[in-house]
Amino acid sequence: MHVLKLWHALCLLVLALPSTTLAAVLAIDYGADFIKASLMKPGVPFDVLLNKDSKRKIQSSVAWKNGDRIFGSDAFNLASRFPSDSFSSVKLLQAAPFSSEAASYFSTISPAELRETSRSTVALKRSDGTEWSVEEIIGMQFSYVKGLAESVAGERVHDTIVTVPPYYSQFERDAVADAIEIAGLRTLALINDGTAVAVNYAMTRSFPTPEYHVVYDAGASSIRATVVQFATDHKVSPPGTQITVGGVGYDRRVGGIELDRRLREILADKFINKHQRDIRKDKRGMTKLWKEAGRVKAILSANTEATSTVESLAFDIDFKSKVSRAEFEAACQDLKGHYAQPILDAVHNAGLTLDNVTSVIFTGGSTRTPMIQAAVKAAVGEDKIALNVNADEAAVLGAALHGASLSRQFKTKDIKITDITPLDIQASYLASAPSSSGRPRTITSTLFPAGSKVGTKKTLTFKRTDDFDIQFDYKEEVAPGFPRRMLEVELAGVSEALGNLTERGAIDPVVKATVSLSQSGFISVTEAIATGEIKDESITGKLKGLFGAGSSSSSEDETQTAENTPPRDTETPSESSSESSSSASPSASAESKVDKKTAKDLSTIQLNITTHFTTLAPMTLEQKQSSRSRLRAVDLDEAAKVRKEEARNTLESYLYRLRDLLDEENKDTPFKQCSQPSERTALIEKLEETFEWLHDRGDFAETSQLLDKRNALETMERPIIHRYQEIEAFPQALNNSQMWNWSTRLFLTEARQNLTAEQEAELPSKWTKEELDSLEKALKEHETWLNTWVEKQKSVKSNQDPVIETTEMKARAKVLQTQLEKLWKRRTPKVKKTSTSTSATSTEAAKPTSNDSASEANESIPEPETHDQVPLQPPEPGPHDEL
Ligand SMILES: *[C@@H]1O[C@H](CO)[C@@H](O)[C@H](O)[C@H]1NC(C)=O
Ligand SMILES: *[C@@H]1O[C@H](CO)[C@@H](O)[C@H](O)[C@H]1NC(C)=O
Ligand SMILES: *[C@@H]1O[C@H](CO)[C@@H](O)[C@H](O)[C@H]1NC(C)=O
Ligand SMILES: *[C@@H]1O[C@H](CO)[C@@H](O)[C@H](O)[C@H]1NC(C)=O
Ligand SMILES: *[C@@H]1O[C@H](CO)[C@@H](O)[C@H](O)[C@H]1NC(C)=O
Ligand SMILES: *[C@@H]1O[C@H](CO)[C@@H](O)[C@H](O)[C@H]1NC(C)=O
Ligand SMILES: *[C@@H]1O[C@H](CO)[C@@H](O)[C@H](O)[C@H]1NC(C)=O
Ligand SMILES: *[C@@H]1O[C@H](CO)[C@@H](O)[C@H](O)[C@H]1NC(C)=O
Repeated sequence: MHVLKLWHALCLLVLALPSTTLAAVLAIDYGADFIKASLMKPGVPFDVLLNKDSKRKIQSSVAWKNGDRIFGSDAFNLASRFPSDSFSSVKLLQAAPFSSEAASYFSTISPAELRETSRSTVALKRSDGTEWSVEEIIGMQFSYVKGLAESVAGERVHDTIVTVPPYYSQFERDAVADAIEIAGLRTLALINDGTAVAVNYAMTRSFPTPEYHVVYDAGASSIRATVVQFATDHKVSPPGTQITVGGVGYDRRVGGIELDRRLREILADKFINKHQRDIRKDKRGMTKLWKEAGRVKAILSANTEATSTVESLAFDIDFKSKVSRAEFEAACQDLKGHYAQPILDAVHNAGLTLDNVTSVIFTGGSTRTPMIQAAVKAAVGEDKIALNVNADEAAVLGAALHGASLSRQFKTKDIKITDITPLDIQASYLASAPSSSGRPRTITSTLFPAGSKVGTKKTLTFKRTDDFDIQFDYKEEVAPGFPRRMLEVELAGVSEALGNLTERGAIDPVVKATVSLSQSGFISVTEAIATGEIKDESITGKLKGLFGAGSSSSSEDETQTAENTPPRDTETPSESSSESSSSASPSASAESKVDKKTAKDLSTIQLNITTHFTTLAPMTLEQKQSSRSRLRAVDLDEAAKVRKEEARNTLESYLYRLRDLLDEENKDTPFKQCSQPSERTALIEKLEETFEWLHDRGDFAETSQLLDKRNALETMERPIIHRYQEIEAFPQALNNSQMWNWSTRLFLTEARQNLTAEQEAELPSKWTKEELDSLEKALKEHETWLNTWVEKQKSVKSNQDPVIETTEMKARAKVLQTQLEKLWKRRTPKVKKTSTSTSATSTEAAKPTSNDSASEANESIPEPETHDQVPLQPPEPGPHDEL
């Protein structure tokens, strides 16, 4: 597994385009128990994100403790102390109507108080009375993950891909997308979790011949199985992999949480039998027992017996009891048939048999439960079970890779996905009455039957003369208590448009609506038009009775059709939704061609589309904005709290440090030496006053007050610190000044000698006498200044402010240095290298003349501040090496 990860990392690092700033992609596998996240960013090793405790998975919990928000396992663990302020397994409530079975089931496993929102969905009520919608709670978790990702990425992160169970309806997908937006993120895509695992599986494998596998995902909330076909895609170079989902099976109610619930019932019964007290009435006790059930379940996965012990479980009773795996399995007897059924359904839906399946890939935490493993083995045969992906992380890593390929900013292995919707989606509308006396009838047709590819469009053709609505429904209830109606689309302007077309000579104009089923599984009407062919006068007779070339078929696909035929081909275009499909029968192809050639004036008019969500509506823009501001306010509050806490802590430790410095016991410290008694008295006074203030008012103080208090003390302390720093810096500054003094003096002596010699020999000189005089003058001034002030400084006491500042000493030395360097760097006048001269011929100094090319231009005196080198070998003692 480690090797696999490494391989991934390499693969990405090598392939990531080394170009401009690329936006990072965040992948989130949002589970009912755990959140896993991964960040895709060039230069950042591709791996699962760690939380603040370096854990690879983050418990899906949010809690408040004394007003502070907490995430992860800390939040989960708070449930027993603050049952009304700790929220876990909230995924179960995604898009759930308040009156749905999902909501009432949630109440059996969580002590949280549920409220109905204005959208008829669920909100959770905190102990302080505030209510938080499920989208807001999940948005907080996404935002928390965003924060983790940003601290790794070192930049803002927006684009997000989130996994969802394949059976998620549009309502639930909307709820996920809304939570993403509330968190301040952008939905790049939603990906079905089984498909994400398939992507992860395909990353490291190649498929010379097509293979079918089942991704079996037993999670906390449900069990699902996805049949996927892997094949090599030779259309790209190097060849990529085509993943085609063939069928899906699922059980929405059986998962780790239901097992925990059953185990908790066992424990509760044992408690009641033993202690004759009804623990089921004790919220906290039941919450503690919930955590215990999860623990015991994990033990029973590896052992046939476990001991449950919870101190002071309820009514001050310490609970201790043994539970056997057999007992647990007996309590789950009725579920036995449910564990493997999704696999059989998926295979059946894909039009395959188990013989066609190479392996069943296990993922999800509940695949560790022995009875689930046993059931699957019994159903598919032990040899088919594959434990070759990371059960916890395959989905998020696959999602990240897919997200990266979608963002088109990374070059990853070419893996194409063709996914399906497992739910029948139908469209209906009210047809015009056949005659004025007849009753209008509702026409319903299955627009996207279960197994339809996502990322496709279909065009519906209607023969209607006035405005009408199209309703989109799930054929079956997606879950108990959920509506079937997804949306209603109102088409307006029909009669005007048709009138216009007819007036202009169109024959039998029709209305067409394009319905899109997006890659992420959302239905929408993307276009509606009235269209008709304007007849060409010259061939009127010939074309009479025909209508629209190319408009004859009522349902067209604009699928990005994959080469490999999916295991189940559902994409045969049907005449489904045309009211009068018989009348819309395809015209003879020859005639069609004539149409196109002679009368290509196919006129269209856009119709107005209005979408209404009449049942479980997604959040409106305003609702999302309001939730976003709510979350941001919480974030800002917390940030302000952190800043205040920091200010307070810094002030406090500063006060203690200062008190220590002022302590009578500490004699002869630099602080004492550099301060005057009066200063110390004033400081002590102020210090005590601040201590008192902090003690009395610290809890209510503003951040700015805390900062001001420190500032006031620091201002008093600063002169003392300054003296100390000056005393420390003085020797070095003096060395520096003296060194330039020395160097200049040495230079002058030699330069004057040379000048004299050169003048005598009538050779050109680098300098004039005036220049050397001027340097000498500067040197004298510097010397005088130094002598005067260094003397004065010597009589200054350590607790008095210095009379000369080291900064000034440095500045003055610098003036001298600049003048010296100007002359020193001067080139020898370009005549010849007559350099047999008087004095001091050091090898160093001779160098420039040995090669009088341009190289000497940069001959410079080394910076003396470093004290590593000194020009002209001043005869100075000390650590300076000769040069
Ligand atoms: C599935 O297996 C059956 C028999 O084992 C075979 O006839 C059929 O062609 C296979 N289907 C596919 C799609 O491979
Ligand atoms: C379509 O909508 C636009 C803007 O909402 C409106 O101005 C126009 O009148 C509408 N047309 C019809 C035919 O309803
Ligand atoms: C028909 O539509 C065209 C363009 O959309 C417009 O120019 C024309 O005036 C319309 N005619 C009628 C009769 O509404
Ligand atoms: C200053 O120079 C003297 C020798 O001239 C040396 O002993 C001393 O360490 C130097 N001090 C600093 C701070 O460099
Ligand atoms: C500067 O250097 C000269 C020697 O060149 C020395 O006599 C004099 O004391 C120095 N002055 C100071 C302030 O160090
Ligand atoms: C003086 O002349 C000698 C010999 O030419 C040379 O090496 C030295 O660098 C000169 N000194 C200065 C300060 O230019
Ligand atoms: C002088 O400098 C030139 C160019 O920098 C170089 O090619 C040449 O070797 C040097 N000669 C000597 C003697 O250093
Ligand atoms: C001199 O130094 C400057 C900057 O340090 C550099 O750009 C230039 O190339 C150097 N010239 C020579 C001849 O080394």
